[in-house]
Amino acid sequence: NDLPKQAELNAPLSLIETGREPENKTWTKIVLIIICYIFPLAFLIAADRIWSWTRWVQKREQWLKQKEEWIKQKEQSNRLYQLLKRKRQMRKKIVAGNWKMNETLQEGVALAKEINESLKAEKPNCDVVICTPFIHLASVAQVLDSNVVGLGAENCADKEKGAYTGEVSAAMVKSTGAQYVILGHSERRQYYGETAEILKEKVKLALANGLKVIFCCGETLEEREAGKQNEVVKAELEGSVFNLSAEEWKSIILAYEPIWAIGTGKTATSDQAQEMLAYIRSIVAEKYGNEVAEDTSILYGGSCKASNAPELFAKPDIDGGLIGGASLKAADFKGIIDAWKK
Ligand code: PGA
Repeated sequence: NDLPKQAELNAPLSLIETGREPENKTWTKIVLIIICYIFPLAFLIAADRIWSWTRWVQKREQWLKQKEEWIKQKEQSNRLYQLLKRKRQMRKKIVAGNWKMNETLQEGVALAKEINESLKAEKPNCDVVICTPFIHLASVAQVLDSNVVGLGAENCADKEKGAYTGEVSAAMVKSTGAQYVILGHSERRQYYGETAEILKEKVKLALANGLKVIFCCGETLEEREAGKQNEVVKAELEGSVFNLSAEEWKSIILAYEPIWAIGTGKTATSDQAQEMLAYIRSIVAEKYGNEVAEDTSILYGGSCKASNAPELFAKPDIDGGLIGGASLKAADFKGIIDAWKK
């Protein structure tokens, strides 16, 4: 564009405009270069940077979303795991009958048959055990379906075997087909002089012979009125079962039976029972740790019947009942078992 037209070259170069160097030509060029080259270049670079920055932001958002999803999935599987763990750990709910010194052999077998039939017809929501006098055990074992109803004795000897007239050993109990034994019942402590030491021996032998022990504890009315119930129960447990190893403890079921409520028609209120069972669980936790305490079944016993069982069993630490009088009629006993369905 700067080339002169032919008509302009009409004089010697020194005389015409084209022959002279323009005064600010260099600066104009520099400015031109900047406008035509540097500016667009800078613009392109900036556009490119902005474009790759938005891509980075987009990718980062995607990545953050993925991460969030991954965390959510992990939390969900964690929750599932915790739920499964809790379910696995959920301690057994148990309703156990204690026939005491009732029923002839024939009556006992008939009662066991009736209980067995009614529970086979309608599966219970808990473990059911009946504890009978020694003479019933072998015959009752024959009529029970052990998948539905467990069988236990009400006592066993504190000696392994030998010259102990009238006694029945843990091994003998086991040989009848029984799987459980009640030990430490207040009636045995009170009327037959069973001390913490004797009970410790009985528990040891029962466990050594593969029996599960339903170990009872509980205070008298005077002890409760003096506010000593926790102290008494703790001493009973310390004296006879807190010496066991954690492995042995797995075969222990505890039963809190306030003596003033046994056979008297005077039930502990559900709050009183809950308070004591929570206390018992706390001392088991002190001794064996939280997890073991959470897995330990603790029953309430003492004038428990179909009418008060639902309220008692609704308490978080009450895992069932040890039932005396109301276990002697199949319908009454079934009514208590059904409390776990409410
Ligand atoms: P109870 O007896 O239900 O007749 O009061 C309970 C027990 O002694 O185990």
